[in-house]
This record gives sequence, structure tokens and C-alpha cells, in this order.
Amino acid sequence: MKKAIVLGGSRGIGKAIADSLKTIDCDVIATSKKELDTSNLDSVKKFAQNNKEVDILVLNTGGPPAKEFKSVTVEDWQKYHNQLFLGFCVLLQNITIKNGGYVFLISSGVIKEPNPRLVISSAYRLAFTSVFKLLSKEFAARDISCINIAPGLIDTDRMRELIQDAEEIKKTMPMKRFGEPKEIGDFVKAIVQNNIKYLSGIVINFDGAYSNYTL
Ligand SMILES: NC(=O)c1ccc[n+]([C@@H]2O[C@H](COP(=O)([O-])OP(=O)(O)OC[C@H]3O[C@@H](n4cnc5c(N)ncnc54)[C@H](OP(=O)(O)O)[C@@H]3O)[C@@H](O)[C@H]2O)c1
Repeated sequence: MKKAIVLGGSRGIGKAIADSLKTIDCDVIATSKKELDTSNLDSVKKFAQNNKEVDILVLNTGGPPAKEFKSVTVEDWQKYHNQLFLGFCVLLQNITIKNGGYVFLISSGVIKEPNPRLVISSAYRLAFTSVFKLLSKEFAARDISCINIAPGLIDTDRMRELIQDAEEIKKTMPMKRFGEPKEIGDFVKAIVQNNIKYLSGIVINFDGAYSNYTL
């Protein structure tokens, strides 16, 4: 049986991934913020000490608040540097991904198109995307696939906090709806279940054709 760790697995996209993986041959640990807070390096190190190796690691965490550049404080930069970047680096330096395993990153469409309301998210997710891309090459030698999932608007607590006028926004979207967390969960499950390995080092725009960029 494969062992999977899904961070931020108590709600939203992370929970959907954990739920989908539980339907196949996977022993899933899904953490809440209380069990692993990626902004708190002591919490991250302790978690890594107790979970030394895994087949499937899903790097996911809470998103930062919507703030424009002028209102971001030094404390905000420090907290979300840890939460969205350093915490993930420390985990990958201390948890062994088994040969033939997978690392999924839940990032955001802002890695391709920075959003002025989400300047913290735009900055640190792009920084970690760089590290993740480099690691995908290193991991490839051990048949480990690294897949960066960049969600568009997925119907979760986080999305509902960030947007007003959900019904109006839906009308402007190509599919006239938001994405369902289960769609991402089932995508991750399909990759694992079918042992798809060559899809690695890539970004999946999981956005129902919402974005305008070509690649
Ligand atoms: N939903 C979207 O449309 C969308 C779009 C683009 C990017 N994203 C990003 O995708 C990620 C997941 O989004 P979501 O919509 O599923 O969010 P969500 O519904 O708010 O769920 C967040 C999950 O992360 C956990 N969490 C919160 N703060 C954490 C921390 N400091 N350390 C570790 N875990 C933490 C929460 O645990 P608790 O239950 O304990 O609070 C929860 O399980 C976020 O980073 C979000 O910004 C989402």
C-alpha cells in the first residue's frame, strides 16, 4: 500500500485530494493547520521528524490574505515566506520521497499572471515554482514525478472569502461555473492510479479555460 501525505488536507482542495486518494490503494495522512502549520518552522521540522518517508506528497497550505503591495507589512512577508516557500523547502529536504513516487504542488494561476490584490501569493508561489521545477529534474532520476497544479477559481472556503458577487463572476467564466475541489482530487487520483510518470516538471492550469495565456 502506498503512503500519501496531503498537507492542508482538512478542507477544500487538499481534503478533496485526500478523499480521492483514499478510494485507491493509499494510506492517507491529511493534515489540518493545527497538525502542521507550514508558516511555523518548528511545526514543519517536527512533522518531518515523525514522517521520514512517503510515496506521495501533496504540498498544499492556506492562501495569504488579499493585500496590495502598499499595505503588506514586514511581518506578512516573513510569515508567508515561511508558509508558501520555506516550509515546503524544509519538508522536501527532510522527508524522503520513495522511488517511483509523486510530489504534487497546489500553487495558483498567479504564477503565470501575477495579481495586484494577491501580491504575496504571486511572489512566493512563483519562487517556490522555480525550486519545484529544478527538483523535478533531480527526482526524475528516481522515477518520481513532480506536478504543479495551478488552480483557477475552485469552489472552496478560500475562494468564497476572496470573491464577492459569485453569481456575476460565474456568468463571465467559459464554463459558467467554478471548479469543484473533487475535480482536482480525481485528477491526482487518476495520475497515481494509472501510474503516469512522464508527466513531470509541468504546470497544469486547472481553470476551466479561464486564463488567457497560451502556455
Ligand atoms: N480555491 C481556489 O480557487 C484557489 C485558487 C488558486 C489557488 N488556491 C490555493 O490553493 C490552496 C488550497 O486552497 P483551498 O481553496 O482549498 O483553501 P481552503 O479551503 O482555505 O483550505 C485550506 C487548507 O489549508 C490548511 N491551512 C491553512 N493555513 C495553513 C497553514 N499555515 N499551514 C498548513 N495548512 C494550512 C487548512 O487547514 P484548517 O482546516 O486547519 O484551517 C485547510 O485544510 C491555497 O493555498 C489557495 O490559496 C486556491
